[in-house]
Amino acid sequence: MGVGVSDWRLANAVARRGHLGVVSGVAIDVVHVRRLGDGDPGGHLRRAYAAFPNQEIVADVLDRYFVEGGKHPDEPYRNVTKLSATPPQHLINLTVLANFGEIWLAKEGHNGPVGVNHLTKVQLPTPYALLGAILAGADFVIMGAGIPIDIPPMLTRLSLGEPIRQRLEVIDSDTEHFVDFDPRSVVSDGWPRQRPRFLAIISSNTLSLFLSRNPENCPDGFVVERPIAGGHNAPPRGKGVFDDLGQPEYGPRDEVNLAKLAKVGLPFWLAGGSGRPGSLAAALESGAAGIQVGTAFAYCNESGIEPSMKAEVIRQALNGGVKVLTDPLASPSGYPFKVVEVEGTVSEADVVDARERVCDLGYLRSTYQKPDGELGYRCAAEPRSAYERKGGDPLDTDGRKCLCNGLMATINLPQVRKGRPEPPIVTSGDDLTAVVRALCTDTNSYSAADVIDYLES
Ligand SMILES: Cc1cc2nc3c(=O)[nH]c(=O)nc-3n(C[C@H](O)[C@H](O)[C@H](O)COP(=O)(O)O)c2cc1C
Repeated sequence: MGVGVSDWRLANAVARRGHLGVVSGVAIDVVHVRRLGDGDPGGHLRRAYAAFPNQEIVADVLDRYFVEGGKHPDEPYRNVTKLSATPPQHLINLTVLANFGEIWLAKEGHNGPVGVNHLTKVQLPTPYALLGAILAGADFVIMGAGIPIDIPPMLTRLSLGEPIRQRLEVIDSDTEHFVDFDPRSVVSDGWPRQRPRFLAIISSNTLSLFLSRNPENCPDGFVVERPIAGGHNAPPRGKGVFDDLGQPEYGPRDEVNLAKLAKVGLPFWLAGGSGRPGSLAAALESGAAGIQVGTAFAYCNESGIEPSMKAEVIRQALNGGVKVLTDPLASPSGYPFKVVEVEGTVSEADVVDARERVCDLGYLRSTYQKPDGELGYRCAAEPRSAYERKGGDPLDTDGRKCLCNGLMATINLPQVRKGRPEPPIVTSGDDLTAVVRALCTDTNSYSAADVIDYLES
């Protein structure tokens, strides 16, 4: 769960129990830069970085971003230059190191399995993020939000220490564009390394068949994500039908046929509404290898959500209940995104209106080709005028929310502008209220171990 909700603490706690603990790798470079800007409380990042195989890179990253004792709360965090198709080496190094560090910490002190999650749509950091995962010995890489057909061969080549060529999706272009990357530009020796297994997140049988057609591109398994899951959701099949609240309506065509999926012959895990006792047994009964659970873990003590935000959502869930809206517009990725309605967050119109649009993190930007053939980058949540100047349709900007800044704020790493912190945005699955009520029968908080006990009960 991104950004930073499923951080190393939570993944470590889950993996210790012998289950797959997954860290979020999305935007982890900025997460680490901001933790370093806060003085690296507890020294965890520096402890992980000490195990990185290229200490020159570590010295450079600490020199650029570490603030002894931490920055003043009213001061902004140091900006990180946005990635491009041809980034400077220090940004590549930062992305590799941050992915390495988060996974290393999740694996520390036990032998349980650890994975990392990335979004296919967020293409620019992918080769460097995957290298970080390989260097840290990640057991699994899990990717959805797109068609991750190029990832299995990329993982194979990177784990052998061989150069890769990543195909970039470029709007307004009729030629192919690539990013070339040699992992030995970051770490020169120690090859080959263990190749993590790759799980593709799917929401349709068609995608499972497409991804498994060719052995070279075939994933090692699937996570089947249903539309009630937290975070981004696949859009519904067919012409858009919306309910009175503007939420996309899903129907039987959006259900994955599990019997058909089983015939593909790869293991699969069920995600979305599986956070209840009995879900695991039902999943196994249907042929699945297990379940993937997000919402129940998002509010446990070890998750990265800022503690007072966690407490507020739990309070609302235990009282009147907390609403979750499937917003078809909020995410600049174009995928529906689940937004929890909490006061003071960008679920509220006046909070959105009070925020000046700014795009300084840029993970959800799309790459487009300019008339002169150069590549440009635009995000539908950036200022309208800038988006239009870059050839985007201004109508695309309506209702968009800056998930990058909002999600950073949710994990207590908000950028500060003119002395004011960015407002948070919270995401969860549709059954948030029921899950929290079941876990908090006589308390207002619970641990990752409590969730596991509950799921196993
Ligand atoms: C707070 C939160 C953030 C999430 N972020 C991501 C993400 O960045 N990438 C992703 O593939 N899935 C993400 N998810 C989905 C989870 O990985 C998982 O599939 C889903 O939560 C399972 O359904 P459930 O929420 O009903 O348990 C997120 C879920 C939550 C609750």
